[in-house]
Amino acid sequence: MKASAVARANIALVKYWGKRDEERILPANGSISLTLDGFTTLTTVETGPRAPRDELILDGKARGTDTREFRETVSRFIGLVRHEAGMLDPVKIVSRNDFPTGAGLASSASGYAALACALNEALALGLDARELSILARRGSGSATRSVFGGFVEWVRGERGDGSDSHAVPLAGPDHWPAFRMVVCLTDTQEKKVKSRAGMASSVATSPFWGGWLRCVEADLEAVRHGVASRDFSLVGATAEANALKMHAVMMTTSPSLLYWNPRTVQILQAVREWREGGLECYFTMDAGPQVKILCIEDVSPEIRTRLSRLPHPPDVVEASPGEGVALTEKHLF
Ligand code: DP6
Repeated sequence: MKASAVARANIALVKYWGKRDEERILPANGSISLTLDGFTTLTTVETGPRAPRDELILDGKARGTDTREFRETVSRFIGLVRHEAGMLDPVKIVSRNDFPTGAGLASSASGYAALACALNEALALGLDARELSILARRGSGSATRSVFGGFVEWVRGERGDGSDSHAVPLAGPDHWPAFRMVVCLTDTQEKKVKSRAGMASSVATSPFWGGWLRCVEADLEAVRHGVASRDFSLVGATAEANALKMHAVMMTTSPSLLYWNPRTVQILQAVREWREGGLECYFTMDAGPQVKILCIEDVSPEIRTRLSRLPHPPDVVEASPGEGVALTEKHLF
């Protein structure tokens, strides 16, 4: 049977960086994110006799199914789903991102959320939203949060089997429609060190790792509270500080992970100057050189004007709170 789903990227306000179980993708800490209304992945899957073997076409290109990367990612995920469904049929997957893949823009989050949702339908797994977030997590940790819209917490969980490590919606997209992320694209090449390898290396080698873990609970509490009360200063300041703590862990990993480029730094400094001058905005960054500026709707035009006047202006995409994953009748084949 064929099914399609659409999912959106999410950007963490309190980051996930490090696993307590690599195989089950269980995080060392909880995280909170915002699902965006852009940065969309549309995925169609088909199983059964019309799909002669596992196949992945991503952004119009057939991806080699005999590569190590495919075996360790998509193929592993399909294997889990086959096991769950008790079936052996191959799966054909066609997926399209409306933004650059693998450049620190959470393409694995929207990708696995869409894939999990489409497979849930095509194979009649009957998973509810919470179970779907657990399945998406097995593809990529951050995907667990894209199952829901708006502000979402991925609870760490305690159990070894991962059954309590899933997403919880904190506030839907209508709770705070004026919240904005101005995404600044400074370089859209695929990153050299992917999050999975990078975070494993941080856990193993960064002397700051323990300090990071000790800070997270307070940041989660502040952002939960800030979201509930729509306290932008609290959410923004906590998110910026949390991103810097994660990047301090990255930089002190061996070998060091430095995802920033000169344009990244230019924007970070500009955001601080603008804020000191009374324009309230904050930044966050992930495992890539893009900067996401957090602000409220009424100041975003001014931020965009100022970005366009920087010596090396970035490409900019503005996003509001978006919806969670959903099935669609729009099939890609
Ligand atoms: C920096 O979810 O891509 O974006 O679970 O290994 O697939 P895997 O990693 P991934 O890591 C995302 C890390 C981050 C922070 C975040 O989104 O919370």
